[in-house]
Amino acid sequence: MKTQPTRSSTVPSAPRDPVQLNLRTAPMSAISEDLEDQAQAYWEGFYGKQRLQSPPSQFAAFVATEFKHHPLFVDIGCGNGRDSLFFSYLGHDVIGIDKSASAVDFCNSQMISSGDKLSAFVNCDIGELELNHPLFNAAKDRKKLIYSRFFLHAIQEYKEDELFEFIVQLCQNSEDIVALEFRTQEDEHNPKEAKAHFRRYIAPRDLQIKLENKFMFKVHYQVQGYGLAKFGSEDAHVCRMILSRNN
Ligand SMILES: C[S@@+](CC[C@H](N)C(=O)[O-])C[C@H]1O[C@@H](n2cnc3c(N)ncnc32)[C@H](O)[C@@H]1O
Repeated sequence: MKTQPTRSSTVPSAPRDPVQLNLRTAPMSAISEDLEDQAQAYWEGFYGKQRLQSPPSQFAAFVATEFKHHPLFVDIGCGNGRDSLFFSYLGHDVIGIDKSASAVDFCNSQMISSGDKLSAFVNCDIGELELNHPLFNAAKDRKKLIYSRFFLHAIQEYKEDELFEFIVQLCQNSEDIVALEFRTQEDEHNPKEAKAHFRRYIAPRDLQIKLENKFMFKVHYQVQGYGLAKFGSEDAHVCRMILSRNN
């Protein structure tokens, strides 16, 4: 059954179609544009074939257990919504963001309308996110969890900076939390289930230093290793970080 975005009374209408945002131009070299195009083609193909919903990730189960009292979850790079829909079923308001139109279409097709709960899936590049969009303007003061799983390593470093610039603007509630899970450098040569596509293996320490010194986040919890993100025959080496703004 195809369901439409639902909304709470405090949040402006989520349109029937994937939410469109104002474009903000990002500086990009020809090489990074090419990488972006290839990555986008990969994800469109990947989610274009999607027919079945997947169970939530291990990280989603961990985060949902730890932060059950955060009413709003913003899932950045939500993919097929396996985690955002799980958060929504648990009763959280959810905003999912992804550049892949087929992924966002799939999320919308799987959404279950429930009362006045917000579920909105936004189809855009994270470099185009604008705080003055009604959806985010209404979210900025609410107590929320910014969730991003297997996304940082799927984008180039300049995009990562754009993402954290946006998160800093969005996190205006003192109880806001950011939850990240990403592949580390140690994962680079491990066998993978999916065919080759753009991945940027991240050094957790370098990211931590950047988040603390450039974006003024405080790291509350950090763990890395195997067994945290099993997927078929694959056991990725990942890092999890739980952060809040240091203010
Ligand atoms: C590895 S998938 C992760 C999906 C999901 N979070 C999960 O854990 O299953 C990465 C996702 O990031 C999205 N993506 C890549 N670059 C993006 C960008 N610049 N802006 C928004 N989404 C992007 C892709 O379309 C894809 O759905």
